[in-house]
Amino acid sequence: MDRVNATTPSASSADDPARATFAALRSPEGEQLLAELRDHDPADELATATRLRRTHPAELVSAALGQARLRQRAAVKFGAEDAYRMYFTPNGVEQATRTSVAAHRAARFAGLGVRSVADLCCGIGGDAIALARAGISVLAVDRDPLTAEVARANAEVLGLGELIEVRCADVTEIDTAPYDAVFVDPARRGGRGRIFDPEAYSPPLSWAATAALQAPRAALKIAPGIPHEAIGPEAEAEWISDGGDVKEAVLWYGEGFAPGSFRATLLPSGATLSAHAPLPAPPVGPVGRYLYEPDGAVIRAHLVADLVERCGGRLVDETIAYITSDEPYSSPYVAGYGITDELPFSMKRLKALLRERQIGVLTVKKRGSAVEPEELRRRMKLSGPGSATVFLTRVAGAPTMLIGHPLG
Ligand SMILES: C[S@@+](CC[C@H](N)C(=O)[O-])C[C@H]1O[C@@H](n2cnc3c(N)ncnc32)[C@H](O)[C@@H]1O
Repeated sequence: MDRVNATTPSASSADDPARATFAALRSPEGEQLLAELRDHDPADELATATRLRRTHPAELVSAALGQARLRQRAAVKFGAEDAYRMYFTPNGVEQATRTSVAAHRAARFAGLGVRSVADLCCGIGGDAIALARAGISVLAVDRDPLTAEVARANAEVLGLGELIEVRCADVTEIDTAPYDAVFVDPARRGGRGRIFDPEAYSPPLSWAATAALQAPRAALKIAPGIPHEAIGPEAEAEWISDGGDVKEAVLWYGEGFAPGSFRATLLPSGATLSAHAPLPAPPVGPVGRYLYEPDGAVIRAHLVADLVERCGGRLVDETIAYITSDEPYSSPYVAGYGITDELPFSMKRLKALLRERQIGVLTVKKRGSAVEPEELRRRMKLSGPGSATVFLTRVAGAPTMLIGHPLG
């Protein structure tokens, strides 16, 4: 990989207050403040600030408290060990890829022999760090000077400075030819919050797709809600969930990926399911003894029909992603429930049934129902030692309540 000198648009941070504050945070005094704030209780922030201001400049104390808050938020994505060594900006922590997902993506690249990646739109470095930890050399590019500086600091404090080179530039000016692969994670948030139009991303999705097609291999991070029609036939589309929540989608291009296929990957297990869409419509039929709730990544990837076939079951309604069967079925892609009751939707009947069975803990799940779970639970006035799960859904078009218990 060609080594490229790190550049910054302005010669020093002195004329940029945000970067000057960041430089102060990285001074020995700033580091000491951050270390003191490692375990501070956010509820005591005012008292902590007052105490620290007696011995440190007020501006530095505010910056350290702000950074401590960001680190606390970032721990969810990066784990406490990394988060409390790293630096963040509010946008940077919000938009960064969580470690589990970034590591999965980096492992796919590394598994195909990718040794160098141009990370276009690196933010504070969430993906660049995972790529480097997979042994890949990274050119990490962001046009925001403070963000680029934070990414550089993160590479350094995590001992990845040799593998990650940060450049402050516009990604549209980068020559990606020397790299084995390109990764693009466009900004999907603007001044007014989340951006839904892919052409309003920065850079626009069409630019990112063109850059991806020009590279030997590429990955584009996209919103999980992307319509399937918007995905070109050259891409393999993968939806990734972590702990049951869909986190993101990624489009893969180049040798080693499967153009036109749709994949669901579940973390932390790494279980992965894929098919060339579209699959034939699954059968629909009456509710059996078991109900299966597919993982969100499977639903987003339109792979529910595959699971219906695997478990020999059917959908409860052609528009609802609940699978039912008469035999128990175990799979990482579904949460299974034994069903004890099927009733037409009625708050009154549900309340009577829950009272009769002494259900004190009720889990409410819904698909195709407008009822608010919290409101329903409040109206049930639950009491008793028992627990149950109620599914508010439609069965053959009719609003229905299914009551049951998790399997296993
Ligand atoms: C979604 S964030 C990247 C997050 C990153 N993958 C991570 O895990 O930390 C997008 C970044 O793109 C940067 N950006 C947007 N447009 C850009 C452009 N034209 N050139 C360079 N960077 C750009 C923004 O400053 C922002 O930091």
